Amino acid sequence: MAPIDLSTAYLGLRLANPFIAGASPLADNLDTVRRLEDAGCAAIVLHSLFEEQISQEATGRIQHMDPLDRQFAKILSYYPEPSSYALSTEQYLEQLRRVKSAVSIPVMGSLNGTTAEAWLKFARLIQEAGADALELNMYAVVTDLDESSLAIERELRQIAENLKRDLTIPVAIKLSPFFTAFGNVARELDKLGADGLVLFNRFFQPDVDIRYLAVAPHLELSSSAELLLRLRWLAILRGRVRCSLAVTGGVATPNDGIKALLAGADVVQMVSAILRHGPSYFALMRDELRRWMEVSGFGALADVRGRLSLSNMERPSAFERAQYMRTLSDWSTWLGYEASIRAHEEDESKPPS
Ligand SMILES: Cc1cc2nc3c(=O)[nH]c(=O)nc-3n(C[C@H](O)[C@H](O)[C@H](O)COP(=O)(O)O)c2cc1C
Repeated sequence: MAPIDLSTAYLGLRLANPFIAGASPLADNLDTVRRLEDAGCAAIVLHSLFEEQISQEATGRIQHMDPLDRQFAKILSYYPEPSSYALSTEQYLEQLRRVKSAVSIPVMGSLNGTTAEAWLKFARLIQEAGADALELNMYAVVTDLDESSLAIERELRQIAENLKRDLTIPVAIKLSPFFTAFGNVARELDKLGADGLVLFNRFFQPDVDIRYLAVAPHLELSSSAELLLRLRWLAILRGRVRCSLAVTGGVATPNDGIKALLAGADVVQMVSAILRHGPSYFALMRDELRRWMEVSGFGALADVRGRLSLSNMERPSAFERAQYMRTLSDWSTWLGYEASIRAHEEDESKPPS
């Protein structure tokens, strides 16, 4: 039997298989980095440097707020102390160089911010330090009721344009799904030359503590339930944008990885599953994909990728709407409601023992 080809292309880079380590502290330790590569992890994204950290180190200010101006004292106190970041900006570049020389798989830097301003120039330093690509995370919860979606999308396009102009390495953009017309946002970024889209940012959502009447920040690792939204958008975009597609969020098992590839992902980023099970989980992901392809009769990943996408569907919106309506009209079957009513009735009709 011909060997199975798991190789894939992402951002123009050739990868041995589609499973890569997403932006996280996983690359902060060189021993972990080597273990990731040994287990078959095909590329690594470093944790992000934040716009706020970069501008604070460069100018002493965050979002133009002067720390000597008392009106900003409270808001500035919410940000981490400069000393509490895992790495300073200089150390980040040094870590990137070290990771690059420790492994032979591609290594990507990551920036995290919201404005098309001077901090973006740091991208050049990441390129010069040897990154094979840059991932830009646009993480913003827009709370200003005067800010329109048009303005937000314009800023986003501006950032992508600036990065593409300044860099020669490929640029991937990690996005949230919370746009009125996400497909249009994706296509515009694709037209501007973004090399990849990473779907989706996972917002850290604070809870409410009813005992202390306080907002309670909390961080949970993801579960497979979060994958479904990503599968939908991978399937919608596959074949309709030129750039690469990566999934991030909710890939907890080998089957989740296979689903993402079938929907249309070029690569599958993983963080939570690796923090839970350790770097060796990459070997399981790869081996299970190979086994599944063998059993299903696929010889190459190219035959799997996007097999279940909507690219050949004439009107994907009508399909989505029809699926939604059918699911609601069959709700009792989906939820096992009738079966549970019958079980209750049978229980009640039994004579008491
Ligand atoms: C501890 C931790 C640190 C993270 N740090 C970053 C980061 O620096 N930059 C970033 O873009 N995403 C970061 N993420 C988000 C992950 O890259 C990823 O998008 C998210 O965890 C969803 O993927 P998962 O379901 O595989 O965990 C972090 C996630 C975790 C759990």
